[in-house]
Amino acid sequence: MPWVSQRSRPRRNRKSPAIRSMLRENIVTPANFIYPLFIHEDDANSLIASMPGVERHTLQSMLKEVGEAMSFGVNSFVLFPKVPDSLKSNMGEESYNPNSLVHRAISMIKDKYPAALVVTDVALDPYSSQGHDGVVEDGKILNDITVHQLCKQAISQARAGADIVAPSDMMDGRVGAIRDALDCEGFTDVSILAYTAKYASAYYGPFRDALQSHPGFGDKKTYQQDPANSREALIEAELDASEGADMLMVKPGTPYLDVIKTLKDSTDLPIAAYHVSGEYSMIKAAVEKGWLNEKDVVKETMTCFKRAGADCILTYYAKQCAQWMCEDGL
Ligand code: PBG
Repeated sequence: MPWVSQRSRPRRNRKSPAIRSMLRENIVTPANFIYPLFIHEDDANSLIASMPGVERHTLQSMLKEVGEAMSFGVNSFVLFPKVPDSLKSNMGEESYNPNSLVHRAISMIKDKYPAALVVTDVALDPYSSQGHDGVVEDGKILNDITVHQLCKQAISQARAGADIVAPSDMMDGRVGAIRDALDCEGFTDVSILAYTAKYASAYYGPFRDALQSHPGFGDKKTYQQDPANSREALIEAELDASEGADMLMVKPGTPYLDVIKTLKDSTDLPIAAYHVSGEYSMIKAAVEKGWLNEKDVVKETMTCFKRAGADCILTYYAKQCAQWMCEDGL
């Protein structure tokens, strides 16, 4: 028999499913997922061409989706409304209308599923006639007046029952201002999940299709981070932590695993990763062509987020992946 003089054989630790699972360092569970849901005012669901398998839900269908996802162990949901053009404005006032779609959706979920965690996106873009995350003047996105609007939005969402507000706008100082605003109104228990390292990414395209929220002019590069930078994420992380964020997010996910790791090493706060629309659509497209095995590639991707340091993951695959985990085991 040929024999190699080799005492250390790492393959011994991989020799069977039992030993591999005994030694596995990172395991994702359905409870780690936050499931993004698109909602709209229409009376039937509609398909999103660039996100096969994802729909804009009616409120009733949203409730059903929440119930199904919870039956697979997913407990957390984040809501994104498609707002009719007639309700959009530069100041985004609809974002804090207590009867808006999102506010009604929050109360419906909390009424029927009190154990569900409802996360809300805090940003003006779905409500902005300019398609930007902030108030626009002379082609510029104004910081401080936007923060003022975001505080109103966050308070109104907390009042409707949101458990966690998630500012995704990338204005300076918004985490501290939102924390103070929530506390002043008595919402000291409402958490802030800060979109800390949110990059000006081309991977958001399908999401903007879903909400018809493409920027009306220009791009988002004066507020979202430059994809070339990682040290900048540390500045954002330090600010968000000092302003009272409870969790920090990195977005997009897979192309930015290094940023997840960088933040994980620099803070003790939990880290969330957003597997964004474009990442979802790329997998779907390859799967539709028969080029990738969907279940294997999705489970692997989720595990890689954990390995990089993510404690929780926002993904359009949440329900599907949780179902696979229930059927196949973790
Ligand atoms: C809006 C927001 C965006 C996403 C989440 N919140 C888009 C953007 O910043 O233009 C993208 C999510 C995705 O692509 O799945 N503030």
